[in-house]
Amino acid sequence: MDRGTVDKHDVTLTVNGRTSTVSVEPRKLLVDVLREELGLTGTHVGCEHGVCGTCTVLRDGESIRSCTTFAVQVDGAEIRTVEGLAKGAELHPLQDGFWDKQGLQCGYCTPGMLMRACEIVERNPDVTHDEVREGIASNLCRCTGYQFITEAVCAAAARMKADSAETTGAQA
Ligand code: FES
Ligand code: FES
Repeated sequence: MDRGTVDKHDVTLTVNGRTSTVSVEPRKLLVDVLREELGLTGTHVGCEHGVCGTCTVLRDGESIRSCTTFAVQVDGAEIRTVEGLAKGAELHPLQDGFWDKQGLQCGYCTPGMLMRACEIVERNPDVTHDEVREGIASNLCRCTGYQFITEAVCAAAARMKADSAETTGAQA
């Protein structure tokens, strides 16, 4: 049977501040566009069913599963991936937190955990330990356990709040 040629669609994404247009089949998943078309392999693939959260990225500031999102669905969106957290050699407070508090072992879940955590701390700088724990429960970690990850996110939230107060004070 001749299946013919599948139509492709131009999808424009701003990923970590950089805008690109890719031509993709409608069935192409966002995670595959990020990894294969844009070379951003920091976003991992785990279950591919929207369960584990390993593939979590931010779309316009909201965490989404990139393994169950078609690229055409996010045409025009701002996407943030784990590659967008550090500023050059300077790690994001969340990355420092995970390092300091030993919030990772194998690191497979870490990119998704970081992006989920990013949404949590940016939405609520005063997030509590319990709220962090509840927030990251959507993402599965098979080896570290959640205690150190929760501590890492809380430490990052406190540092981000202190940094922001310092900046505000400096401008006053
Ligand atoms: S790989 Fe996307 S939720 Fe598991
Ligand atoms: S650090 Fe290994 S799965 Fe989370």
